[in-house]
Amino acid sequence: MKVDVLLGLQWGDEGKGKIVDVITPDYGVIARFQGGPNAGHTLEFEGRKHVLHTIPSGIFHDNQLNVVGNGVVIDPVIFRREIEKLKEHNVDVNKQLLISRKAHLILPTHRLLDAASEQEKGNKKIGSTLKGIGPTYMDKTGRNGLRVGDVLGPQFEERYESLRGKHLRLLGHFEGFEFDLDPMEKEWLDAVEYMRDLTFIDSEHYLNNQLRKGERILAEGAQGSLLDIDFGSYPFVTSSNTISAGACTGLGIAPNRIGEVFGIFKAYCTRVGSGPFPTELHDETGELLRAKGHEFGATTGRPRRCGWIDLPALKYAIMINGVTRLIMMKADVLSAFEEVKVCTHYEYNGEEIDYLPYSIDPSEVKPVYKSLPGWHQDLTGMRNIDELPKELNDYIEYLEKQLEVPITVVSVGPDREQTIRRDSVLA
Ligand code: IMP
Repeated sequence: MKVDVLLGLQWGDEGKGKIVDVITPDYGVIARFQGGPNAGHTLEFEGRKHVLHTIPSGIFHDNQLNVVGNGVVIDPVIFRREIEKLKEHNVDVNKQLLISRKAHLILPTHRLLDAASEQEKGNKKIGSTLKGIGPTYMDKTGRNGLRVGDVLGPQFEERYESLRGKHLRLLGHFEGFEFDLDPMEKEWLDAVEYMRDLTFIDSEHYLNNQLRKGERILAEGAQGSLLDIDFGSYPFVTSSNTISAGACTGLGIAPNRIGEVFGIFKAYCTRVGSGPFPTELHDETGELLRAKGHEFGATTGRPRRCGWIDLPALKYAIMINGVTRLIMMKADVLSAFEEVKVCTHYEYNGEEIDYLPYSIDPSEVKPVYKSLPGWHQDLTGMRNIDELPKELNDYIEYLEKQLEVPITVVSVGPDREQTIRRDSVLA
C-alpha cells in the first residue's frame, strides 16, 4: 500500500479540510505531517461548521484513526481546546487520535518570540499568525526543542526551565516589547498535564506497520506550496516543508511509498499575511471575490487578499509536488462575474515567461491575462457534473490542458455534499 498526499497548491486556505473530510471514508488513517495551529481547516456538514487547527480532518469519522505526525508542532493550550470541542461532538479522542512522540511543542515563550520578532520587523513583517510556529521550528533545527515524548520524561521540568530561560534572555534584546508570561505559562503547564493522558505513539513505526497490513493512509498537508520554507515566496513563508516531500520527513514515510498526490487549488487565488502576490486585485473585483468567497482567515479572522488564478504559480507547485490529480475549489464564487480572468504568463525582464522566477515581487513580474466567459449561474445546488454550465466546463478544460493534470473534483460550496466528482479527459 501507498500513502496518498493531499496538499494546497497556492498560499493556503484552499479548502483542504473539506476535501480530507469528504475522502476520509476511502482511508483507514489520516495523518497531518507539518505545520501547527497556524492552520485552520474548516469542515461543514449537517448544518454545522467546525474549524480544526492541529488535529487531522478525518476526526469526525468513527472508523478512521488520526495521527499527528512528527513534523507537526503542537501548542498544548490550543490542542486541549480543540480536543474539548471535539468531545462536545462525541468524538472519542482517546480512541481516534494518536500523537507522535517526536512532534515538537510550542512553548508560551515561542509565541512571545514570534510576536517580538514581528514587532521588530515593522512594515517588513511576515504577517505571521503569531502562533509561535517559526521560533518552534528554529528550536527544532537548532536542537533545543522539547518534544511530546519529553512530557512523560523525568527531566521535563528542568528542560522546560532551561529553554524558557534561554527565550527570556532573547526576549530581553527586543526593545519595547512587553509581555506577561505568568498567565500564559500557567495555562500551558495545565495543558501539558492534560496531554499526559492522550495516546502517544512512535508514528513512523505505526504508519509503516499500517501500510504493511494493507491499510490506506492519507497525509494531510497544511498551509500551501507557495508558503513552503524552501520553494515558497521566501521570506514570506511558513517555517515547514508544506510540499509532498514534507510528508516523507513529517511522517517517516519513504519516498517510494508515496502514491497519489492530490493538489487543491481555488478557482481564483488568495493570500493572507504579507508577501508578493502577482495577480492580487486592489479594486472592486478583489473586494467582490472577498465578499462572495467569505475570504477571512479561519485562524486569525484577517481579511484575505484576493486575485485571479495564477497558472505559472500553479504549474510550479504541480512540478514541485508531483501532483497526479487536481481538485478545484470554490467554483461557485466565480458565478458573480461576467468574465473570468486567468494569468497565463508573467512579463519579466521584457520577456513573457510561464514559469516562476526567483522573485515574484510586483516590481519584477507583471501578470498577463486571458479572459474567459463567466457562467453567472448559482452552482451551489448542483450535485452532478452534467448540471454544470458550459462556460464552467470550458474553464475547467482550459485549466486542465494548461496544467496537464486531470481535475477530478469540483467543489461548489463549503458543505460535504457540495462536491462533484468528475472524469477528466486527461485521466
Ligand atoms: P506563520 O506560519 O504563522 O509564521 O505565518 C507565516 C505566513 O504564512 C503568514 O503569511 C501567514 O499568514 C501564512 N500562513 C500560515 N499558516 C497559514 C494557513 O494555514 N493558511 C494561510 N496562510 C497561512
